[in-house]
Amino acid sequence: MSVAHGIRKLGVLGAGQMGTGIALVAALRAKVPVLVYDRSPEQVTKGLSLMDKLLAKDVAKGRITNEQAKEARDRVTVVSGDLGVRGFRDVDMVVEAVSENLSLKEAIFASFAAELRPDAILATNTSSISITKIAAAAVPDNTNAASEAGKKSAGRVVGLHFFNPVPVMKLVELISALQTTQETLDRARAFAVACGKEVTTSKDVPGFVSNALLMPFINEAIMCLEKGTATREDIDTTLKLGMNHPMGPLQLADFIGLDTCLAIQQTLYEGTRDSKYRPSILLERMVDAGWYGKKSGKGFYEYD
Ligand code: CAA
Repeated sequence: MSVAHGIRKLGVLGAGQMGTGIALVAALRAKVPVLVYDRSPEQVTKGLSLMDKLLAKDVAKGRITNEQAKEARDRVTVVSGDLGVRGFRDVDMVVEAVSENLSLKEAIFASFAAELRPDAILATNTSSISITKIAAAAVPDNTNAASEAGKKSAGRVVGLHFFNPVPVMKLVELISALQTTQETLDRARAFAVACGKEVTTSKDVPGFVSNALLMPFINEAIMCLEKGTATREDIDTTLKLGMNHPMGPLQLADFIGLDTCLAIQQTLYEGTRDSKYRPSILLERMVDAGWYGKKSGKGFYEYD
């Protein structure tokens, strides 16, 4: 029996590529009103223009009508400034899509727990950080995590991992923390399906299934480059034409963001203590240099 997600209003924290994409599929496919918050006004402007561009393209390609694009756009409100998570007080679910930083996410989930309705689902789009740790942060300071109140607060936290570009990639990875309730999982899954996604589930291990497999692959490609085994073009072309990957691994790393790849690899390495996950020195140095890939104009390749 399919479960109703019951989301009448969604909150999205972060108006980057991921947050904007999540807001778009929620408004267009699941047809729910969405409030997106980002503390940076520049990010809000960028997010809105990306959304307008993607909707206009769908109209131009005849996938949706002008009317449907307008309705989707009208469902989305993007705000910035000092409001913070207080703006999410009336949402049924919030998806956090900020950068990969545990202490930042812990602070956010503590304020979600304090400010949002007690029955709101608190989802994180983290690519690798422990959902169980994030859920623990949603237990108020003066509450025993094993008490009914503690279990209730942490039980609504779930991992809902979208892939970039969100409107194009068909998958959502659903991750249960130790504390997540079955009801939270069922509703989060139903919501992802309403957004047009197929859902796989993973245990709460570092990197889940997706990045426990993807990141060693990307790292090996970087080490091939570092050792001079082949040029960047030949490494990428080998995987594109030899294995039918849509992008080569170095191009994909630039696309994901080298800082994000490094943060995920560090989480994998620290979380497993397995040397197969140790990030390459070249990746570390490129991030030290501020070469973050496509978003900064330079990574393994150069971008306008
Ligand atoms: N946002 C939204 N849509 C985008 C986009 C973006 N940033 N970039 C491309 N697209 C759309 C295009 O508009 C186009 O849509 P239409 O079919 O409507 O025209 C479609 O994607 C194909 O684009 P292009 O024809 O320009 O280029 P392409 O065929 O090379 O495809 C791609 C681009 C979809 C990005 C493809 O190269 C691809 O699938 N690459 C792999 C992406 C991938 O692996 N993503 C997962 C990364 S891992 C992750 O996100 C999670 C994590 O935890 C790290």
